[in-house]
Amino acid sequence: MRIGTIEIDRPVILAPMEDVTDRAFRQLCKLHGADIVYTEFISAEAIRRGAEKSIRKLAMADHERPVAVQIFGNTVESMVEAAAIAESYEPDYLDINFGCPVKKVAGRGAGAALLREPEKLSAIASAVARAVSIPVTAKTRIGWDHDSINIAETVRRLEDAGMQAVAVHGRTRSDMYKGKADWSRIAEAKAACSIPIIANGDIWNADDAVAMFAQTGADGIMIGRGSIGNPFIFAQSVSLVRLGVPLPAPTYRERIRVALDHMRLSVEYKGEKYGILEMRRHYSTYLKGLPGVSKVRNELVRELDPAVITELLQGFEAHCGMLEREGRLTESGEYLNDHSPRLILNYQPNTKQSTIV
Ligand SMILES: Cc1cc2nc3c(=O)[nH]c(=O)nc-3n(C[C@H](O)[C@H](O)[C@H](O)COP(=O)(O)O)c2cc1C
Repeated sequence: MRIGTIEIDRPVILAPMEDVTDRAFRQLCKLHGADIVYTEFISAEAIRRGAEKSIRKLAMADHERPVAVQIFGNTVESMVEAAAIAESYEPDYLDINFGCPVKKVAGRGAGAALLREPEKLSAIASAVARAVSIPVTAKTRIGWDHDSINIAETVRRLEDAGMQAVAVHGRTRSDMYKGKADWSRIAEAKAACSIPIIANGDIWNADDAVAMFAQTGADGIMIGRGSIGNPFIFAQSVSLVRLGVPLPAPTYRERIRVALDHMRLSVEYKGEKYGILEMRRHYSTYLKGLPGVSKVRNELVRELDPAVITELLQGFEAHCGMLEREGRLTESGEYLNDHSPRLILNYQPNTKQSTIV
């Protein structure tokens, strides 16, 4: 697949996700094999106003590359102005959000709302493409609702407007995140245009990644929710898609250590207070299914000190190690004693001891 000077065979891409794909998470996904990463969406109006929080989201590091900045807005003027400002932060390309279904975006005529205003969608896309010298792509859904699926028309419009690729999430706006993404509509999009199509929606593991390429003929794939708490999905998918080689599931040690890396990166980029607060939503996904996870998570989300969080995670790893030595936990984190419903771990950070009560 080619976007500007970026050329990658069947890339596996991190989807833009608000409050998730910040610098820390992008870096983690890149380290774990993501070929391209996207920022969270950023409001064109906010960029134009110079709103600090939004401007901060434009920052990126060289080791993230290739990285795309995604913007959304509801007027040609705001999008053109924001695109020029975003370009000055030197992303590899710019992406326009024509798919967001949430009220604060679609309710204000941006994101997926533009699927109901095709002329305006074309006007925004072509004006942005003309306004910057880096490549511009778009991300969209298959239609507004099931009575108005228009993805073939949309991708042709976007191609005519100068988009260099289009990511297609196989749901309508009215689906929100319900049901299953309709991959056959992504195949329809692929057949309708000659620019690269990036297929998105419901890739939860490497087998899904292979199936998505096979069923849609897409040029690249994009993974969102399947990567949350699980950046391992990128290397697993890349390996299976490009080499035909399945990789083993991550061990519990790797999962705990990635949670720790994520926390450290979050603190590095956002400072101690916000870095720690924003990490809170991530612990349970990294540690999902491990014995005693709810207890350690409850402790993690109450802590503000990175050193104590580090101790808690290291203590949890030691605790899992003990269960493994006792033959009750496999390396891949499968707990073999789950017929014992009363297992509760009592981890004491001071003594670094765990007892089972
Ligand atoms: C928490 C969250 C935030 C999201 N934020 C964005 C966003 O900022 N821009 C965007 O284009 N899509 C956003 N999406 C949609 C995803 O990029 C993706 O299209 C969708 O989750 C389907 O892919 P998946 O099944 O791999 O998750 C978001 C999704 C989630 C779950």
